[in-house]
Amino acid sequence: MKTIVIREPGGPEVLTCQDLPTPQPPAEEVLIKVAAAGVNRPDVLQRMGLYPPPPGASNIPGLEVAGKIVGLGEGVSQWRVGDAVTALTAGGGYAEYAVAHEGSCMRVPKGLSMTEAACIPETFMTVWHNVFERGALKAGESFLVHGGSSGIGSTAIQLAAHFGARVFATAGTDEKCAYCETLGAERAINYKTQAFAEEIKNLTSKRGVDVILDMVGGAYIQDDIACAAEDGRIVQIAFLKGARVQLDLMPLMLKRLTLTGSTLRPRKREFKARIAKELQQKVWPLLESGAVRIVIDKTFPLEKAADAHRRMESNAHMGKIVLEVS
Ligand SMILES: NC(=O)c1ccc[n+]([C@@H]2O[C@H](COP(=O)([O-])OP(=O)(O)OC[C@H]3O[C@@H](n4cnc5c(N)ncnc54)[C@H](OP(=O)(O)O)[C@@H]3O)[C@@H](O)[C@H]2O)c1
Repeated sequence: MKTIVIREPGGPEVLTCQDLPTPQPPAEEVLIKVAAAGVNRPDVLQRMGLYPPPPGASNIPGLEVAGKIVGLGEGVSQWRVGDAVTALTAGGGYAEYAVAHEGSCMRVPKGLSMTEAACIPETFMTVWHNVFERGALKAGESFLVHGGSSGIGSTAIQLAAHFGARVFATAGTDEKCAYCETLGAERAINYKTQAFAEEIKNLTSKRGVDVILDMVGGAYIQDDIACAAEDGRIVQIAFLKGARVQLDLMPLMLKRLTLTGSTLRPRKREFKARIAKELQQKVWPLLESGAVRIVIDKTFPLEKAADAHRRMESNAHMGKIVLEVS
């Protein structure tokens, strides 16, 4: 099968097309003929050598795919050959065929294309767990997401708004801010021209926000602490501006804040299966009615994975970048 491999750690040019044997699905896993694979920032970090795959996972990048099941490992009970699924993979998505645990597969929501479906698993599972479980966002509360125009941000804004939160976002250009507002953010703040913590305090009559989803880290963490409401929850899902910081934690104690975080990839199969089930119950109806939409920035053929990474690293994109397999 045709795959994209990382020749060595480096820039987008190290992504190389290579023929490799088609994997056989181990017990409880399915073999998927990939129609489309989502591109995520962690793939870029993996390519740079900064995010190695967990032990036992494929070295081929790609954390999510959509396609048809063409093979079943021993003991698979939930799926049949021919089923159309979108799946979280442990890696290996940038390929004509990929394997996934049966519990990490979800049926393709009605009315969505394979390209749209390929954008769901990594992003929606991450947002669901970190915003609604770890962050425990509830209707009537307020929410701030950084990187609002990212794949993760676009999903977080829509789901938080849909489930009744007051939503704010930050992004790096006025165009990205306007995009966040079309998705349901009451106000998006251009962090290059405005201090977001001050702005959030102004927008919330000094109260602050209940939940913050932060992928930036660095100096943002102190500002998150400053603009979190009493009993607020700050959830770290990445540290694009660094994980080592000096902090004044006094407000953490005074406002009874929770500073937490998580990463999806190394979590157990049972955990991923639980999230997949909940998404199908609670979010699939929203995708199928069009209340929540998949926003695709650009698609690339699989062979042009390097260009897809260049697009992501340009930071010009809004929404998801997808590889299509012909
Ligand atoms: N913990 C987990 O389980 C998990 C799972 C999936 C993804 N993630 C993380 O979530 C983040 C978003 O993922 P994604 O796939 O949606 O990526 P993406 O679309 O590329 O988004 C990254 C966003 O971060 C913003 N940004 C702010 N500071 C940045 C900096 N110093 N360098 C680069 N970008 C910066 C960029 O927009 P601006 O122009 O607004 O700055 C961009 O919109 C990534 O950091 C990824 O690693 C975590």
